[in-house]
Amino acid sequence: MLTIALPKGRMADQSLELIGKIFNEKLEFESRKLILESKNFRFLNVRNQDVPTYVEYGTADLGIVGLDVITEQGLDIVDLLDLKIGKCQVAIGIKNEDTLDWNRPDIKIATKMVNITKNYFASKAVGVEVIKLYGSIELAPLVGLADAIVDIVETGSTMRENGLKVAEVIMDSSAHLIANKNSFFEKKDEILEFFKALKSVVDEQ
Ligand code: PRP
Repeated sequence: MLTIALPKGRMADQSLELIGKIFNEKLEFESRKLILESKNFRFLNVRNQDVPTYVEYGTADLGIVGLDVITEQGLDIVDLLDLKIGKCQVAIGIKNEDTLDWNRPDIKIATKMVNITKNYFASKAVGVEVIKLYGSIELAPLVGLADAIVDIVETGSTMRENGLKVAEVIMDSSAHLIANKNSFFEKKDEILEFFKALKSVVDEQ
């Protein structure tokens, strides 16, 4: 039996669609249900940022999670495969009318992704103050809480509709299949069989 943590919402649906192709069946979480079982697999429907926790503790052998989350959380896991779904970018956003002078002192950046932000600016030797928010990041520059944001851009419409533009792209992200280190050792054959089947479905896309 393999347990796989999936990130709630669209990424879970897309992941189940890929896995359904291996199983030759339609996989779907029933409304409000958090566990789905099929064949020798158990799927857990968890929040995006919680996927790594289930995998690191070994409650889930495998997980599907964005590279942005893997990078932000600096996880001690095995990164097995880029699923090429859930594609997005982590980008710096500023107001349309602004140009940011990185040499200015006291630059404030609002973000959910504190580590990615700190590492990025440290690598450029730019000193910034990072303000942690949990959502609606795009609001921060509009009301003067921050000069810029670091956030996920997928279609770009959230920034656009709030009068923001991308100033710099920090990284590209997509969903990856990850494994718990002990599970990868103890259930290697089962995991590799699943990995190979999933890889061939991904390669066909
Ligand atoms: C993300 C991100 C942006 C939005 C970008 O939030 O924080 O607000 O998506 O997508 P777009 O470029 O297609 O407009 P999400 O909806 O994932 O919610 P979250 O705040 O729970 O992460």
